[in-house]
Amino acid sequence: MTTRPRTPAPNTPAPGKLPLTELVEMKRRGQRIAMVTAYDAPSGRLADDAGVDVVLVGDSAAMTVLGHDSTVPATMEEMLILTRATTRGARRPLVVADMPFGSFQVSDAAALENAIRFVKEAGADAVKVEGAGPTLARVRALVGAGIPVMGHIGLTPQSATMLGGFKAQGRTAAGAQALVDAALALEGAGCFSLVLEAVPAPVAARITQALAIPTIGIGAGAECDGQVLVYHDLLGLYDGQAPRFVKQYADLAQEIRRALETYVGEVREGTFPEERHTYSMPEEELQAWQAPPAPVTAVSRR
Ligand code: KIV
Repeated sequence: MTTRPRTPAPNTPAPGKLPLTELVEMKRRGQRIAMVTAYDAPSGRLADDAGVDVVLVGDSAAMTVLGHDSTVPATMEEMLILTRATTRGARRPLVVADMPFGSFQVSDAAALENAIRFVKEAGADAVKVEGAGPTLARVRALVGAGIPVMGHIGLTPQSATMLGGFKAQGRTAAGAQALVDAALALEGAGCFSLVLEAVPAPVAARITQALAIPTIGIGAGAECDGQVLVYHDLLGLYDGQAPRFVKQYADLAQEIRRALETYVGEVREGTFPEERHTYSMPEEELQAWQAPPAPVTAVSRR
């Protein structure tokens, strides 16, 4: 096993870490940004190995990893553990921690306290918050404290009930304009990047042109500056119904099931473990241990 360097102090970019400012340069050069979610050290490391630029420790973890039906139940403590694990695996990509529902809505002070925990305790490079409106003040507070913030508009799963369910946003002229206004406001508040989720492609294209900061699309068409997918959707690891914008690049659930079934079969048949999976001991030690014990000599009684 290779030894990895210790996590540097918060706010000190680790050697080899993609500088945050590089994202806007990528937009200027027309170089697409690849982002994916990850929730632990192995998925973070694999994303890093694959050349991913930004890893999002999404609150989608509530569904993909923790077994909930929505993202709402994710807690700060759970997100901190997952983020801490992910930053141990993902070294070059920027790691963005998703602020879970309830961690930033109450006040600027609470948002700041929780965002600081992501940076100090979990080694996150940035945080993500959903929405505009009241979220704008939170973005200003976090950016003012030196914490980079990624925005998220369109379908914002934490407020899916208010939006009438998990459905595309900005499909009316008024809705589209509201998204453009929200995007400009979030850029003005200091966001370094913006996720556009389930937004018609022409609306996402207009927002992308209007902003200097990069847009990252998920169900928002090909004109965004980058794309994000949920790890478990992309790899075919999630059993639930995938949204139409998901492209599945592998069927790992099928592969894992096949491997587990083979293992169970071999255990039952006794064909696993084989000789090469077991440990031996020096012959003389074995013989000494197996030799019949020396007879116990009778102790004479007086
Ligand atoms: O939580 C998440 O995975 C997200 C992405 C879908 C952008 O917010």
